[in-house]
Amino acid sequence: MGVLETAPLSGRDDRPGAPLHVAIIMDGNGRWATARGLPRTEGHRRGADAVRRTVEAACRLRLGTLTLYAFSSDNWKRPADEVSTLMRLFRHYLRAETAGCVKNDIRLSIVGRRDRLPRAVRVAIAAAERATASCRRLTLRLAVDYSARTTILRAAALAKPAELDDPASFRACLARAQHDPAPVPDVDLLVRTGGEKRLSDFLLWECAYAELVFTDRMWPDFGEEDLERALADFHQRERRFGRVLSV
Ligand code: IPE
Ligand code: IPE
Ligand code: MG
Repeated sequence: MGVLETAPLSGRDDRPGAPLHVAIIMDGNGRWATARGLPRTEGHRRGADAVRRTVEAACRLRLGTLTLYAFSSDNWKRPADEVSTLMRLFRHYLRAETAGCVKNDIRLSIVGRRDRLPRAVRVAIAAAERATASCRRLTLRLAVDYSARTTILRAAALAKPAELDDPASFRACLARAQHDPAPVPDVDLLVRTGGEKRLSDFLLWECAYAELVFTDRMWPDFGEEDLERALADFHQRERRFGRVLSV
């Protein structure tokens, strides 16, 4: 092995068998509802059911980390009634799911800005994080008021000089910038539902070597089979991280 190959390049953990980090851009709630003559907010409600199914599937499939994009910092630009429905849904989800997370050993953490969230949501976040802090089977991260670019800027501003030496040490700064209790490994697989093929300011740093899967399935219809299909696709890929693996 050459000397360059021994240097840590990033936060990725590509040891065979290491628990995977899967991230999902849960898109398509509004179109799902509109296609059925329903208000967009009904799509968000049904989207919360898909979150439950997906988290259960993630446990069964033994993922290590699941990061779900629930609300981007740009989503504040949406109509006020849609934003307030989403905030009510987050609060309801956190309150309703915390006991189940404890029972299933799922650690919940919310990544993103906290200062613009309604107080009731902040209280629910604190309670959910406290109750699940010692859970270890799955780390479930919900990205709320999240912007990758804002996180990276804030992480750089908070960094001590030594933490800027290499990408692996910068992970601790990212964790601090977004209220993560500890650094998480880079994303192995990124899935986006809803048919669009873009990142929309999600995990730009952590996805440096992520495998990307885009599906036309609208988020409220997403389920265990879709996650299994995305993982099967992932396992077919040859991840090279810049190296030559076969000649
Ligand atoms: C994703 O679904 C949920 C959020 C962004 C909060 P959308 O609401 O973006 O649904 P579409 O893309 O308009 O169908
Ligand atoms: C990204 O979806 C954010 C979430 C899924 C929470 P958007 O629907 O907001 O993204 P754009 O506007 O299509 O890029
Ligand atoms: Mg969308």
